[in-house]
Amino acid sequence: MVEDIETIEQTMKRCRTETLRLLHRIPPTLGDRQWHPDFSPIDWHFGHIAFTEALWLLPEPERERFHGPAYQKLFRADGLPKAQRCALPNRDAIEQYLGDVRAAVERVWQSPPPPWDQGKTRLWWWLLQHEVQHSETISFLSHLAGIDLRINQHHCPTDSQKLPLQAAMVAIPAGVVCQGSEQVWAQDNERPLHWVEVEQFWLDKYPVTQAQYQQFIDAGGYQQSKYWTEAGWQWRSKANITAPLYWRPQNTTQNHPVYGVSAYEAEAYANFIGKRLPTEQEWERSARWSSPHHSSTYPWGEALPSPEWCNFNHHHGQTTPVNYYDQGRNQGGCYDLLGNVWEWTASNFEPYENFHPYPYRGYSQTYFDGQHRVMRGGSWATRSWGLRASFRNWYHPWTRQVLVGFRCAS
Ligand code: AVJ
Ligand code: FE
Repeated sequence: MVEDIETIEQTMKRCRTETLRLLHRIPPTLGDRQWHPDFSPIDWHFGHIAFTEALWLLPEPERERFHGPAYQKLFRADGLPKAQRCALPNRDAIEQYLGDVRAAVERVWQSPPPPWDQGKTRLWWWLLQHEVQHSETISFLSHLAGIDLRINQHHCPTDSQKLPLQAAMVAIPAGVVCQGSEQVWAQDNERPLHWVEVEQFWLDKYPVTQAQYQQFIDAGGYQQSKYWTEAGWQWRSKANITAPLYWRPQNTTQNHPVYGVSAYEAEAYANFIGKRLPTEQEWERSARWSSPHHSSTYPWGEALPSPEWCNFNHHHGQTTPVNYYDQGRNQGGCYDLLGNVWEWTASNFEPYENFHPYPYRGYSQTYFDGQHRVMRGGSWATRSWGLRASFRNWYHPWTRQVLVGFRCAS
């Protein structure tokens, strides 16, 4: 499988270049602060990327060098409590650690027999996905800290003509559709690939925009329990929430998606407008070009994500108008299914039938607890390797630090 060798090797290098680009853009003085009690400091995530790579890809005694007790205490996911993760090595030491582990990993892939001849290809792709996931967390924590990570300084699409406040919807016909993936980089929770029947339903053509969400605020949506689920109203009252986390309404962003909302706020808005959130089956059905015998990886087909199709990987470093990416539409004409903002669904995070944990039990299984909600689609910060119609992300429904919005169904 010579192809695999080159692909995973080159891909890991490209991914790392992008991770280091983030690292160099984040002021070191902002790296060791905890921006929210539920999340570790930004620099912890860089160290944890290296630590996890050493754990899974290095043989002994190489592993021991980068995975000793001192490192374990600092960078294990279940090591120190998040609030005690601020006493980190400095930024240069963390960058050095990333580089040293990677140099050791490169020695592994250069010395025979290479891992892809040992049936370990999937493990290497999993590591890539792990780096992509933590880079996303680094990205939204940076957003929380007010750091601008955009690549493209010159061009950022602004609102064109105003979209109507009444959201356009698209009919998605009933059918048997593909869910999940068995591509080598697919996570345990995306497997196995299977077919499900979905009834016909309607889906918003666009994510809910800031102008649309403003109506909910203006109508006193945050003050009226009738729009909220019981759990949602309790959460709203206790935390005294009156607007989305990143809410900075501007004339120039009226057509941009609302984001920084909890699933509770998304549900309340949907009730207000007489709709509901889509299930993850419905969402995935919409995000894949489908015929009775084929189901695509992306809404536009099989081409890898590019800046012409969607807003991802910090190209703009912020949201874009929801009607901007004509070329990225799905079969029915829905925009922005991938990129721009993650989208909350109505579904709890559950295993598909015949789920097998990989590479360790706690990666997904711990979260099949009825307390986590699925979000789909990726954000403006997601790397290309994290963008696909089958990818499932999950958080507590009250989480709103993620770059997450929603669209409605009915
Ligand atoms: C799937 C993004 C919720 O970051 O907590 C990273 C992914 N798991 N390392 C997380 C993950 C272990 C996970 N999310
Ligand atoms: Fe991790």
